[in-house]
Amino acid sequence: MSSPLLTTARLTMPALGLGTWPLKGRDCEEAVESALGLGYRHIDTAEMYGNEAAVGAGIATSGVPRGEVFLTTKIWHDKPDGPAFRAAFAASLERLKQPYVDLLLVHWPSPALNLPSVLTALAHLHAEGLARAVGVSNFPSALLRQALALDIAPIACLQVEQHAMLSQQALLDITQPAGIVMTSYTPLGKGEVLEHPVLTRIAARHGATPAQVALAYLLAKKLVAAVPKARSAARQAENLAATRLVLSAEDLAAIAALPKNRRFVNPDFAPAWDPFPA
Ligand SMILES: NC(=O)c1ccc[n+]([C@@H]2O[C@H](COP(=O)([O-])OP(=O)(O)OC[C@H]3O[C@@H](n4cnc5c(N)ncnc54)[C@H](OP(=O)(O)O)[C@@H]3O)[C@@H](O)[C@H]2O)c1
Repeated sequence: MSSPLLTTARLTMPALGLGTWPLKGRDCEEAVESALGLGYRHIDTAEMYGNEAAVGAGIATSGVPRGEVFLTTKIWHDKPDGPAFRAAFAASLERLKQPYVDLLLVHWPSPALNLPSVLTALAHLHAEGLARAVGVSNFPSALLRQALALDIAPIACLQVEQHAMLSQQALLDITQPAGIVMTSYTPLGKGEVLEHPVLTRIAARHGATPAQVALAYLLAKKLVAAVPKARSAARQAENLAATRLVLSAEDLAAIAALPKNRRFVNPDFAPAWDPFPA
């Protein structure tokens, strides 16, 4: 089974990918190999995960041609200017043993972020073909608007936490009209949103699992991708099969009506987030 593709002017990517945090070492390599064997063609890693070497090894041992895999990495927020960002990305490519990545993201904004300088580095890396597409992660709407207004780098993707209990509507209002893909991280709410009775009821009605419902809800949105993390082949297959689940307008409305006020990833260095909807 394969994931449907999202295509914009700036990239083509499988809507469903594999998240790899906090997998490490052999465990991570096996998870990547297993996912690619099942038909995944989109893998999400980051410098900070400490698993880029394992991800690269998993891609290599899978036997899937590199050109078929959409590989994302991210550079940590302690590289707040272009030269530091570039140097860190060169080290990422070495660990991954890859000549390029498909998507390179600024992992988090930091208070020290020199936005024009980092965007300039992204633009150059894109022009040089080392990053086939570029984007940002964990940018709230004011900062995303600022990055887009600068018009330095061709931002193709925004990766943020999004799930049945966090809508990110303020950001979708920017990304969808701009043709930017929003990649949902923590799309299963770390497994917690799966116990909600609204999700379990919809799942039972479709003969699906709550995880599949949680993912199908996100993937039904325009230009939204998701990168659930699953270690076992069984859960990886379950999550990939969510791309075939079509929820009714009534199902989508019932999930949309749930409170959207849960954020699972909120480190002390996080930016001032957009407020939850009233
Ligand atoms: N850009 C960022 O700052 C950022 C931040 C956080 C995460 N991410 C990315 O997003 C990925 C996913 O986010 P996440 O790991 O925080 O959370 P998540 O994908 O929402 O949840 C992962 C948890 O759900 C479990 N799970 C997976 N499939 C399941 C299924 N079908 N049924 C029940 N439980 C299931 C996993 O367990 P098992 O693995 O044991 O199956 C794991 O405990 C990360 O791996 C990372 O690549 C990015």
